[in-house]
Amino acid sequence: MRTLIKNGTVVSAEGASALDVLVDDERVLALAAGGSELARSWQTGADRVLDASSKYVIPGGVDAHTHMEMPFGGTTAADTFETGSRAAAFGGTTTIIDFAIQARGGSLCAALDSWQAKAAGKCAVDYGFHVIVSDVNDSSLKEMDVLVGQGVTSFKLFMAYPGVFYASDREIFEAMDRAAGNGALVMVHAENGIAIDAIVAAALAKGQTDPIFHGLTRPAELEGEAVHRAIVLAQVAKSPVYIVHVSSAEALAAVAEARRRGQNVLAETCPQYLFLSEEDLARPGFEGAKFVCTPPLRPRIHQAALWQGLRIDDLSVVATDHCPFSYAGQKELGLGDFTKIPNGLPSLENRMELIYQGVVAGEISLSRWVEVTSTNPAKVFGLDPQKGTITPGSDADIVIYDPHATGTISASTHHMAVDYSCYEGKSIIGRVDAVLSRGRQVVDGDTYTGERGHGRFVPRQICQCLR
Ligand code: URP
Ligand code: ZN
Ligand code: ZN
Repeated sequence: MRTLIKNGTVVSAEGASALDVLVDDERVLALAAGGSELARSWQTGADRVLDASSKYVIPGGVDAHTHMEMPFGGTTAADTFETGSRAAAFGGTTTIIDFAIQARGGSLCAALDSWQAKAAGKCAVDYGFHVIVSDVNDSSLKEMDVLVGQGVTSFKLFMAYPGVFYASDREIFEAMDRAAGNGALVMVHAENGIAIDAIVAAALAKGQTDPIFHGLTRPAELEGEAVHRAIVLAQVAKSPVYIVHVSSAEALAAVAEARRRGQNVLAETCPQYLFLSEEDLARPGFEGAKFVCTPPLRPRIHQAALWQGLRIDDLSVVATDHCPFSYAGQKELGLGDFTKIPNGLPSLENRMELIYQGVVAGEISLSRWVEVTSTNPAKVFGLDPQKGTITPGSDADIVIYDPHATGTISASTHHMAVDYSCYEGKSIIGRVDAVLSRGRQVVDGDTYTGERGHGRFVPRQICQCLR
């Protein structure tokens, strides 16, 4: 099966050029200058021609931080691998990396097996896994080596959520020390959970139970402190570290300082920290519950710092931390007690278009859009050149993006299995027009043309972004 994508502007992390793309079965076969004799010659042998006139042709998005079917706070994230991966496809994301969770007392390999079983035969697009390490001990440390050999090369540890996922500094150091030997990347949820728990208890004692107190009890200083501590632990362990969901100027400053010194510190932010704020958490009634995620949404002033971080590569990745809970029956579990609101937001489907609004607004360049949403996450998580690039030999994960279209985000039209959108009514410039996953067209305008189970597990190499 040969597909020709013609007349488009191919945008990569390096630049943009008028190029036609020839896809053979699952892979990119060749690129040639649009209108050239070579490109014209491809027309005859093509089984399918997609006209990308006035459109961008970009590598499919790589969302390195999703939580499908995640058990959390007495409920389970609303998207299954089937619904979530289909929503990803609609949004122009063709690879997701989800988190398998080690049960306390359980093994890392059992966690991976269990998440593999949830995803197998269900996904619309390709997927990989990180493993959340909830129990650091001799046996789980040894299992890290085994999993790296199986293409699961990154592990998340939490400085937050005491009694749930929390790991002590000693445990985090031990995991980093192991990672220094086996090439794994330790991802850290950096908030000082111990201090936060004290602040939360004091708030509840004063009857401060509304969603806004989720934000007010998790100050940015305690994110900045934890990021700094994670970086120092990694420095001593001589391991790289990846800071997930950076939400504040304080956290970013700690990352930036370490990167200036040349330490292997990588960091991501998420659309919610770029576009939403504490004002959303303070919406009247219980509406703020729709915006409860951790770290919390910050005062608007932090957004400029995060955009700046993206521009100058202190933040290398935009991932969603997609962890959707419906308002009805799930977010409502926290009525009268914000600590019972399940943490997490839906945004997997909106990531590419939201970050494109940063291009429209002049916050980042067109190439940087592709770099932070696709190329960099592929490299950081060991998927280059299979994913994140349109290069001969790479997987034909390709999005045709129409920069002239306009639309409005709404839960009434999105495909995520959740009953609200954090961006309800937001006007969007540009739209995902067509999506290929390994050469197969999975989205055509508003129509899903893919197939349940088309998506495969992708084993990953170790981080490809180290200095
Ligand atoms: O609120 C969030 N972020 N929920 C998902 C779990 C996590 O900490 O990433
Ligand atoms: Zn986290
Ligand atoms: Zn997360």
